[in-house]
Formats: sequence, C-alpha cells, structure tokens
Amino acid sequence: MSESVNSQLFAGFRAPKEIVFGAGQRRSLPKILNGLGTRVFFCIDPVMASHPDVERLVEDVAANGTDVQKFTEISPELPMQDIAAAVSAAEKHSTEVVVAIGGGSSIDMAKLVSCLLTHPGDVRQYFGEFAVPGPILPIVAIPTTAGTGSEVTPVAVMTDSDNGVKAGVSSPYLIPAVALCDPELTLTCPPSVTAASGADALTHCIESYTAIRRENKPDLLSSRVAIGQSALTSSLALEGVQAISEGLLDAYRNPDDLDARSRVMYGALLGGLAFGTAGNAVAHALQYPVGASTHTPHGVGTGLLMPYVMEYNQQARVPEYAKIAKIVGRAIIEDEVLADEVSEEYRALILASDAEANTSREQEQLAAAAPRLVQQFLSEIKIPSDLSQIGFDPATIGTAAEKGVASKRLCDNNPVPLDVPGAHSILTAAMKGQLSGS
Ligand SMILES: NC(=O)c1ccc[n+]([C@@H]2O[C@H](COP(=O)([O-])OP(=O)(O)OC[C@H]3O[C@@H](n4cnc5c(N)ncnc54)[C@H](O)[C@@H]3O)[C@@H](O)[C@H]2O)c1
Ligand SMILES: [Fe+2]
Repeated sequence: MSESVNSQLFAGFRAPKEIVFGAGQRRSLPKILNGLGTRVFFCIDPVMASHPDVERLVEDVAANGTDVQKFTEISPELPMQDIAAAVSAAEKHSTEVVVAIGGGSSIDMAKLVSCLLTHPGDVRQYFGEFAVPGPILPIVAIPTTAGTGSEVTPVAVMTDSDNGVKAGVSSPYLIPAVALCDPELTLTCPPSVTAASGADALTHCIESYTAIRRENKPDLLSSRVAIGQSALTSSLALEGVQAISEGLLDAYRNPDDLDARSRVMYGALLGGLAFGTAGNAVAHALQYPVGASTHTPHGVGTGLLMPYVMEYNQQARVPEYAKIAKIVGRAIIEDEVLADEVSEEYRALILASDAEANTSREQEQLAAAAPRLVQQFLSEIKIPSDLSQIGFDPATIGTAAEKGVASKRLCDNNPVPLDVPGAHSILTAAMKGQLSGS
C-alpha cells in the first residue's frame, strides 16, 4: 500500500450508514427498527414470505410494538407495471420505514416504493442519474440471494416490458440506511438462483475493479453516481473476487454449506460496495437487451458476457486481469473437479506468489488467460458459455448492440470506449462462443 499512497491516490465511497453481516444477524432487525420508525412496510419475495425464519422475523418485529404491513407480489426482474400496487399499499399504511427481504428484485422494489412515497409521480421521471430530488424513507435491506449487492447500492433496476429494456434509477438517495446480511437466508436458494446471482456478483467485482479511472477533479462525486475505479472500491472488488472464487462452487454443489454460502454472500456485499460507487460497465450494458429478448435472469447474461467483455478490454487492464486470473485460476486448480483443466504452464504462473512476482510478459499471459478461466469457473455452475444456449436470435445482434451502447451510464465506465461495431464484435464472439485467449 505504501507505494500507492502518493499524490495520485484517489478514493471515493458511498455506502449505507450501517452494515451488519453474519449468520443469525437477521434477528437484530427489531432493534435496528427501533431507531427508524414504527410503521413498517415489508417488501418480501413471494418464495421467502412463507419461509419459517422470515415469518418469525415479521412476528418479532410486530411483537416489538411496530405496525407491520406485508407486500409480496414481487416478480423476478421487477416488471415496472408492478410497482404502483406496492406504492399504493405502502401509502395506505402510512409507512415510515421500508424493509426488503428478498433478492435484488425485492430490494429494488423497496427502493422504488420508498422513493415514490416521498416523491410521488411516475417512476420514469427518475430514470438515469441524480433525478431523485431528495432523501427518501429509510430502507432496511435484507438480501436472500448472494448476488446483486442491491442492499448497499444507489441503484434500482426494473423491466420496462413496453420497450423491451431494463431501466434504472440511480441516485445516492436510494442507498438503504441499513444492510442486514444473514447468509442463513440464502440456504434455500436452488442451484439455478445460486448460480445466476453468484455469477452477477463476480461480474460486479470484475467490472468495478477494471472500470475506467477518471481524473481526480473536485466535482467528480457530485457529477456522477458511478465515478469509476478508485482505491477504496478496487480493494473491496478484489477481495470480492477472492471470496466468491472460494465459495461459489461449493455453495452451488452443496446448498447447505453455510461456510460457502457466507463467503459468496460476503463477496456479493463487497461487489455491491465496489460497484455502488465505481459502477459497472459493458457486460451490464449488453445484458440488458440480451436479457429482455431471451427472458433470462440478469446474472446468467452478465456471467455469460463477462469473459467476452474481458477479452475486448484486455489490453487496457493487463495487471488487473493478471490478478483476477491468479485468484480464479487458483480456485480452479484447487477444485477437485476442475483441477486438471489448467495446463502445467499456466499452473506455474498462477501459483507464483503474487501477480507482482510475475514478469510483465507473464502478466500478459495471465491476463490473456483470464477470460477463459472466468468462463471455466462459471461453466462449472452451468452458466452457459455462448448466446445460442440461451436462445438469443443472431438476427438481433445489431439491435442489441445499439441498445447496449445506448446505456451510456454503463458504457462510459468501461476502460475501453465502446461503439456499435465494438458491441457487435463482442456479441458476435459471444454468439459463436469464441474466446481467443488460451
Ligand atoms: N439494484 C442493484 O444494485 C442491482 C444490481 C444487480 C442486479 N439488480 C437486479 O436485481 C434483479 C435480480 O435479483 P436476484 O438475482 O437477487 O434475483 P431475484 O430477486 O429476481 O430472485 C430470483 C428468484 O429467486 C427466488 N429467491 C430469492 N431468494 C430465495 C431464497 N433464499 N430461497 C429460494 N428462492 C429464493 C425468488 O423468488 C425468485 O424466483 C434483477 O432485476 C437485476 O437487474 C439490481
Ligand atoms: Fe448485476
């Protein structure tokens, strides 16, 4: 660290006022709410609503002298037209605080409910960055997937089915007051949800770790929600890659493995903290049109696309990709199923003490291998490795490339500029399943 503490050092960070992480910590909710309000509106994932731990939690909050109202009509990927019913129920309840229990879709619903209760109107007027006019009701976010990091981020994403796109509200006011992360709540996630949400978390870590570096200007944080890579977010993002690499394969194969679940949820939290300030980039921009046309979960698309976007960005981020290759590569080498898939040559490079110990030529070799290693890792949890496997129509590549590039907020954050031909080339490689690196 001492080498990097110099006049070039820059860091920016936004986060909830309180973050609590640990098995069993959900039980701290009644006490947490004491300081926030007595009329509580719960946005609860429909699957989790009948989970005994969740039922008990709501009962405990009610027994603490709090007026509770539950809302559970929340669909995956959060269709925009479902938001109004939740806002109206929350309004009738004279809500003072909103609690989300669920995956990204439920947490994002809570953010939008809280926003629209405080600033009534059409949600579309808040699309984009900094459009929310002021503070919103406090939110306590309790994730039940290990993925989106929405419990700490300034973003709420919804599906605009009329236009076939994902749309986002991005404002520091949306950051929950409290993130309460209890990995025991993820034990019931089926492998498909563990895989999609875990792949998304890994993508958040990689995209924020390798995002653009902007000039250290005084108005950087006030003019952008996603400011690009900086010291605080980079260290969290890399730690997130580590935690997810250590836990995701076991969490997928053995759903009851609480230790593995904890590592992945911790990695997802770190990914959220990192991208919440740094921002995501092109894997997310291209997932939006791909997800809308194939109706596949967000994390399946981001995980599938990430290796191809890494290949596109590779020359601009050699030391970063070398580090990622070493962490993900080590997880592959140490895994009993995947161990033999790494050649002797790469095994030696990956296991050398740290990335700085590799020569610049070796770093280039590692960086070139990074997309393939990430793809191998994600293939083991059945994330498809090409777009044909999720039914993407090759005739729509041109439209998807245009829609992806139109997500300017995300594309501006990429370390390499993206134009429509660039997006076309990434999608074409992803269609053919062609990664050139070894
Ligand atoms: N706001 C952000 O910062 C942010 C970041 C990334 C993605 N997102 C958005 O989040 C959404 C995806 O969220 P997600 O991946 O968490 O999935 P999700 O919330 O859509 O849930 C996926 C499925 O898993 C089920 N589920 C959730 N928790 C479960 C559990 N513990 N046990 C059993 N089943 C469970 C749900 O019922 C649902 O069927 C997308 O709309 C995506 O665009 C938001
Ligand atoms: Fe994501």
